[in-house]
Amino acid sequence: MTEFSPQAQTVLQTIRQRRSVDVSKIGPGSVPREVLEAVLEAASWAPTHGRREPWRFTVFTGDSRRRLGEILAASYAASSAPDHSSEAAQQAQRERPFKAPVWISLELHIPQPPKFSDWEEEAAVACAAQNILLSATALGLVGKWASSVAMLHPLTAEALGAPRVLGFIYLGYPNGEYPDSKRTPLAEKVVWAEESQTA
Ligand SMILES: Cc1cc2nc3c(=O)[nH]c(=O)nc-3n(C[C@H](O)[C@H](O)[C@H](O)COP(=O)(O)O)c2cc1C
Repeated sequence: MTEFSPQAQTVLQTIRQRRSVDVSKIGPGSVPREVLEAVLEAASWAPTHGRREPWRFTVFTGDSRRRLGEILAASYAASSAPDHSSEAAQQAQRERPFKAPVWISLELHIPQPPKFSDWEEEAAVACAAQNILLSATALGLVGKWASSVAMLHPLTAEALGAPRVLGFIYLGYPNGEYPDSKRTPLAEKVVWAEESQTA
């Protein structure tokens, strides 16, 4: 039986422990700047083909969340959501950022001229996002990658000076217990080529 080192066990446990958590499960307590810097530094160490680092982040905390709310409200109004012209729906967008203390945009900036296909650059940003979520988990934070209509709208990207925004990660400290998640068994998703070979 292979013995996993304590370091390996910690990494595996953090990966297993990370959960997507609704804003209702997050307390209002602010997150220290050095904690957020550690999380963003972890993002920077994501794999990136050709080390192009196609990610940029805008961090909204405190009062700057008001600006984010205005951006989301304007994007929602311009979106094709069925209730896009509802003042109540737009107001909900204005208020949403105040439901978590930290919002980090996931911006895709593909260095020009392009060298790899767009999906590779998008995948690199997704890897950076996972590093944010995992390092945040290790540091006692919870959150979620959110990709609403307003967040993905081109007006949101334009307001942030980004070619594209792939969503936002909101973070904060948990205000209690939060539910577990589930996955289908590995056996349904993995083929061990050596075992399935037919001579
Ligand atoms: C690219 C991406 C976009 C997502 N967007 C949303 C979203 O808009 N709203 C949401 O509730 N969850 C969103 N999620 C989180 C998933 O719902 C979540 O990962 C899934 O329910 C599994 O739960 P777990 O992360 O706790 O294992 C997103 C996840 C990814 C990878």
